[in-house]
Amino acid sequence: MSGIDYLERIPNNVDLAANRRLLRALEEWQPKFLDWWQAMGPEGLQATDIYLRTAVSVDAQGWAQFGYLKMPEYRWGIFLAEPEPNRAIAFGDHKGQPAWPDVPGEHRATLRRLIVTQGDTEPASVEQQHHLGRTCPSLYDLRNLCQVNVEEGRHLWAMVYLLDAHFGRDGREESEALLQRRSGDRDKPRILGAFNERTPDWLSFFMFSFFTDRDGKYQLASLAESGFDPLSRTCRFMLTEEAHHMFVGETGVGRIVQRTCELMREHKTDDVRRFGGIDLKTMQKYINFHCSVSLDLFGSEVSTNAANFYTMGLKGRFEEAKKPDDHQLKDATYSVIELDGDRAAAREEPALVSLNERLRDDYIADCARGLQRWNETIKRHGIDVELTLPHRGFHRAIGCFAEVKVSPDGRIISEAEWDARHHDWLPTAEDQSFVQSLMQPVVEPAKFASWIAPPARGINGKPLEFEYVRLG
Ligand SMILES: [Fe+2]
Ligand SMILES: [Fe+2]
Repeated sequence: MSGIDYLERIPNNVDLAANRRLLRALEEWQPKFLDWWQAMGPEGLQATDIYLRTAVSVDAQGWAQFGYLKMPEYRWGIFLAEPEPNRAIAFGDHKGQPAWPDVPGEHRATLRRLIVTQGDTEPASVEQQHHLGRTCPSLYDLRNLCQVNVEEGRHLWAMVYLLDAHFGRDGREESEALLQRRSGDRDKPRILGAFNERTPDWLSFFMFSFFTDRDGKYQLASLAESGFDPLSRTCRFMLTEEAHHMFVGETGVGRIVQRTCELMREHKTDDVRRFGGIDLKTMQKYINFHCSVSLDLFGSEVSTNAANFYTMGLKGRFEEAKKPDDHQLKDATYSVIELDGDRAAAREEPALVSLNERLRDDYIADCARGLQRWNETIKRHGIDVELTLPHRGFHRAIGCFAEVKVSPDGRIISEAEWDARHHDWLPTAEDQSFVQSLMQPVVEPAKFASWIAPPARGINGKPLEFEYVRLG
C-alpha cells in the first residue's frame, strides 16, 4: 500500500521534497490555483462543511477517507498509481521497448499538446458547474457536486504536475494558461467545444456527468496505455476518481427517470410537467444534445493525428492489452460509419487512421449499457417508451457528419426538414426554461426535489437523512 504524504505542503506520493526545482514551480502555482478555485469553484459554498472523500493512498483498496471538510482545505495534490515494474510499451513502433520515465525529445510537442488538451477539460467542468449549488435538489446531490468538483480540481493538478515536471519552461507557461482560459469565454474559451457549453440546471449536470465525464474515461484509459510512464500512472489513478463522476451521472438521470415514471403512473398521463416532473420526451432531447456534443470530443472519423499518436506510442486504444492483434495495425482495417452520398454507411478504412472512431465505438457501447438500465426502470413501471441514443451523425460539429443534417434515427435530411423538426429533437428555449423553473433548492436533510427520486442508498453507508452538507 502506497500512502500519500499529507505532511507536505503539496500532498504527494512522488517524493516531491527531493525535487526542489519542481517543488518551487508547484508552490508558485498553488496560490494561483486557490484563487481560481475561490472564484470558480461551487458558488457560495467555500466556507461550508461538506462530507467529502479524500484519497489517502493510491492502491485500489483503501484509498478513500470520508469526513467533513471545507472545500478550500481539500488536500489537492499529486498522486500517481503504483509503478508497474519493467513496464513495456504495448503498441506502436516502440512496442516491446521499456516505457519512458521521461519525455522523448521527438515526441515532446505532441505529448505536451495531449496533456494540455486533457488538462483544460478539468477546470472547465468546474466552471460550467459554478452556479449549480444554488439550486441543488438535495443535500446528498449537493455533496456529490462538490465531490466531483474537488476531484476535477485534482485532475488539473495531475496534468500540471506532468507539465511542470517534464516540460520545463513551456510546461510552466501552459500551467498558467490552464488557469486563464474560461469556459464559454468569448476571448479565452476552453479548448474543446463541449466544455464551453453551459450547464445551467441539474438535468444538464447529470447528463454531462453521464456523457461527457464518460468521454473523459475513454480519453484517460487510452492515455493510461501511453509509453510515457508518468502519464500512464497519472491517468490510471484519475480513472478511479472518474468512475464516481459517471456514477453520479448515471444514477442522477436514473432517479429522474424513476420519478417521472412514478408520476406518469400516478396521474395516468405522459405530461408530467403539470405535476412537477420532467417528461420523458424532454429527457430524450437532453440525451440527444449531451450525447452528440460528447461524440464530437473523439475527433474526426479518419485522422492521421490519431494514427501518429498510436504509432509513436503516446496514446493507445481502450484496453489495448485485451485486443487480440499485433498492436501495430499497419495492415489492419476497421469498419467506419461515414457519409456516403445521401446516407450513412460502413466502409473499411485503414485501422490506424480509424482509431478515433474505434474509441467512439467503445464509448457508444458503454453509453448504451447505461440507457438500458434507465429503460429497465421504465419497463418495470409498465410504460411503453424507450430512451435511445441518437445516431452518431446527429447534430455533429466535427467529422464528416458536420457537413450535413442528420435525424436522430440516422437519415441524412434536408435543411428544410431540419428546420421543421429540430425542436422535436433538441431542447428548445421553452424546454430549458421549464427545467429551470423546477430548480428550486431543497436543503433539508432527507428531502428531495419533486422531479427526482431519492437514491437507493447514501454515501459511505450513511443514511439518506445524514447531513451531507452543513449549511448551518
Ligand atoms: Fe476529470
Ligand atoms: Fe470527471
